[in-house]
Amino acid sequence: MAGAVTLDGKAFAAGLRERVSAEVASLKSEHGLTPGLAVVLVGEDPASQVYVRSKGKQTVECGMNSFEHKMDASVSQEELLAKVAELNADPAVHGILVQLPLPKHMDDLAVIDAIDPAKDVDGFHAINAGRLMTGGKGAAAPMVPCTPLGCLLLLRDHLGDMSGLTAVVVGRSNIVGKPMGQLLLQESCTVTIAHSRTKDLPSVCREADILVAAVGRPEMVKGDWIKPGATVIDVGINRIDVEGGKTRLVGDVATAEAREVAGAITPVPGGIGPMTIACLLANTVTATCRQAG
Ligand code: GUN
Repeated sequence: MAGAVTLDGKAFAAGLRERVSAEVASLKSEHGLTPGLAVVLVGEDPASQVYVRSKGKQTVECGMNSFEHKMDASVSQEELLAKVAELNADPAVHGILVQLPLPKHMDDLAVIDAIDPAKDVDGFHAINAGRLMTGGKGAAAPMVPCTPLGCLLLLRDHLGDMSGLTAVVVGRSNIVGKPMGQLLLQESCTVTIAHSRTKDLPSVCREADILVAAVGRPEMVKGDWIKPGATVIDVGINRIDVEGGKTRLVGDVATAEAREVAGAITPVPGGIGPMTIACLLANTVTATCRQAG
C-alpha cells in the first residue's frame, strides 16, 4: 500500500502566484510601480533555455515586466559584467537573475557578486548568503534562494512547527544544500548536511524526520534509507532514458519505494519545480517593495 501523503507543490505554487499577482496589481494601482525581472542567459544549454522561457512566461502572467537578455556562449566575462552593471543601474529592473551554470571560462561567483544585492532575487550574492547565515531581519533580511525557500514553505505548510526535528540535507551546493541547511537551522531543526563523501549515507538518512534530497542523481535515495513516517522533499529533476528512445523525468528519490515508508513526499514533476519559480516571482515583488522604500 502506498502510504505517503503527496505534497502538491504544483497546487501550492498556483496559490502563491495568485498572491503575487494580487500584490503586483496593488503596487501598480497604489504606487504606479510595475515590478521588472531581468533574466540573463548565456549560451544554449537546453535545460536552461526551458527554465528561462518558463520564468519569463510566469513573470508576465503575474503582471510583471520580463526582460530577457540572451548572450552568446563565447561572450567574455567583461561583457557579461557590463550587462549586469547596466541592469543594476536600470530603475525598471527590480530583480536580476543570471542563469547558472555559466560557460566554463567564467567565474560564477564573481558574476553573482557583481549583481546589486538588493536586486539579487536568487539570493546567491555573498551579502545575501551571509545575511541568511547571520539571521538578518527587517532592513537586513536576506533575499532567500528560491528552491530552498520553496521547500521551506511546503514543509511549514505540512509540518507547522519543526522545532527539535532531525533534518538531513543530501547535497551541499550553494544553490540548494547550504541555504536549505541554514533555513532548517532557523526552524530549530538539528541539521546534517550530507554529501557524496558522507560515510554510510543510508544510515545518516535513516535518522531524518525531514529528508531533503538535492544531489542531482536519479533515484539515488532508496526506500530503505527513509525513516518510517519521515517527510521527504525531492529537489532532483533528472531526465533519464527509457525504452523506445523516450525520456522520463525522475527525482533524486526512488519515489515508488519511498512512498511505502515516508509519511509525506513531494512528487517529480509537480513538487519543488513549480515552487522554485513561484518563489522567484515572490522574491521579485519583495525586492521591488524594498527598493521603493
Ligand atoms: N540553475 C539551476 N537553478 C538555478 C537557480 O535557482 N537560479 C539560477 N540563476 N540558476 C539556476
